[in-house]
Amino acid sequence: FSLLSHCYYKKYTMGTGRLRLRGRTSMLLNVQYKSSTRSNFTGVQTTLETEIIQRRDQARRSLLIQVYSPKSHNDLYNYCSRFGDILSMHHYQVNRNHYQENYILVEFKDVVSVDEIMSYASFVRSDYIAPVKSSVLWFRKGQVAISQKYQTKVALTVEHGYIYVNDKKILNVLSNAKSISGQIIILYETLRLTDLEIRLRFHTAQHLEQYFSGLFHNMRVLPFGSSINGFGRRKCDLDLVLVPNYSQEGNSRLVFHSKPIRHNDRTETKEFLGVLANAMYQFIPGISNVRRILEARVPIIKFHYDYTQIECDLSATNMTAVYMSELLNLYGEMDWRVRPLVTAIRVWAKRQEITTDVPGQWITNFPLTLLVLFYLQQKEILPSLKILKLHAARGDVRCTENGIDCTFLRDINKLPADFKYKLNQDSLETLLHDFFEYYSTFNFDIYGICIREGRQIQKPSHTALHITNPLETTLNVGKNVSFYELNRIISKAQDAVHTLETADKTNEDNWGIMTLLKINNVNTKNLKKLNNTKESETIKNYLENRSYEISDKFDVSEENTN
Ligand code: GTP
Ligand code: MG
Repeated sequence: FSLLSHCYYKKYTMGTGRLRLRGRTSMLLNVQYKSSTRSNFTGVQTTLETEIIQRRDQARRSLLIQVYSPKSHNDLYNYCSRFGDILSMHHYQVNRNHYQENYILVEFKDVVSVDEIMSYASFVRSDYIAPVKSSVLWFRKGQVAISQKYQTKVALTVEHGYIYVNDKKILNVLSNAKSISGQIIILYETLRLTDLEIRLRFHTAQHLEQYFSGLFHNMRVLPFGSSINGFGRRKCDLDLVLVPNYSQEGNSRLVFHSKPIRHNDRTETKEFLGVLANAMYQFIPGISNVRRILEARVPIIKFHYDYTQIECDLSATNMTAVYMSELLNLYGEMDWRVRPLVTAIRVWAKRQEITTDVPGQWITNFPLTLLVLFYLQQKEILPSLKILKLHAARGDVRCTENGIDCTFLRDINKLPADFKYKLNQDSLETLLHDFFEYYSTFNFDIYGICIREGRQIQKPSHTALHITNPLETTLNVGKNVSFYELNRIISKAQDAVHTLETADKTNEDNWGIMTLLKINNVNTKNLKKLNNTKESETIKNYLENRSYEISDKFDVSEENTN
């Protein structure tokens, strides 16, 4: 059991290690580091659950280290490999306070190497730091002795243009595509989260979990939302939830005295998050611009994570949000067209100012994604949640602490045959066009959308948009959308149909989805020759990865779409 020990720090004992712990400037507290226990999900492990476990383990075995330049790679490798085998090293750069900062994420083979390296690392010599140990460090200059002579055994993966994909690049790849379907796949492949971004998102969660583990036993910080549901795009926000790990309870006769935290009680959750927000702001390095959004339906702490330049939301509710991400991920896995289509529609909505980064009376990405999934149910490409519930196995049973049943089939291989071998083989171009057509004529006055049933339902309320929350059917996910905003969506969808039907296909700088995405005013003159083979390569890679679902008859090039 670890305690938060309150004490004043005098000159902190310095280690001799070259790795320095990132400390937040402060005078008072020492939150003691305690290694956190890796989560264990109960029940049958399924794809996303397994991936979450693996990613959490990977994050636990990784250190994020600030270096002077990528050239420090050899030196850092030689230093770190004294503590254990290194599996991978990833470099990226961020712009912070007008300076380029270089980071290398080092993945060790064993977690003991991380523990050992951290016990050897030191703090900066100062009275004014909050000396909190964490897995973000910086590599100070040292004698580059013999180390330089040795060749590193692990190549440095370099992420160029980390998180930023500018319009020029998008336009370049889109203008080189041969069909609208090809453009949609390329857009998805260009914007999807990279392996490094996913690693860093789990590392951020791990970073917070380490701090909280100094306060609480067995609390997990889990990423959810688009960081894990397969619909994430470069630079999308990182949604995090703080959840207790009940599965770790023992059966000892001695039980710790503890205070209750009732996450079902709004007032208590708000107070709890308020306290955490203060602690995070004061003591956790890398966290800035902390905002307490405690009056929202789901109270959250918003903050900026400086080391990755990502906006984060931390909530303390229950596992429903994670199970919702599992459901969305499952739908994305069921048919290879789902994710590219959702990406194109999300980007379209952003570019048309249907969605924005700030919440309000407009639709956000989550309900928008549900609109796409519902539409694909109508196309008989995706099954209803009712069917997934019907085919759930014993290992799929999940129920949150507050009694929300989140049971549904999680292994897509066990889907009924009708859904595995779909009759609908519409091209992405057709699906995109028909999506806009479907919603530009949908009767929102009378009907609501229900993913659970897989069909439209009589609207049970007088809100403009009704989208039944798939897991909590009494809730309306589209409740905040005003009549004005809904009409804007309909009118933009009508415009999109018109654009797709009348676009001048001979204008090579502005055709297909480029017009919809409003990215046709960038000069691509000098870029054209660079990527002539890009489309076929990207599509080939994408289809190869998805080969289990592609029918031989299907081809994404315009000439062959049916
Ligand atoms: P982006 O962050 O915009 O890329 O998409 P996202 O899917 O992560 O959406 P967002 O960050 O807005 O929300 C994160 C997750 O919270 C979603 O995936 C849902 O699981 C959940 N969520 C968001 N909005 C709602 C809502 O209105 N009702 C419910 N029940 N859950 C929501
Ligand atoms: Mg999100």
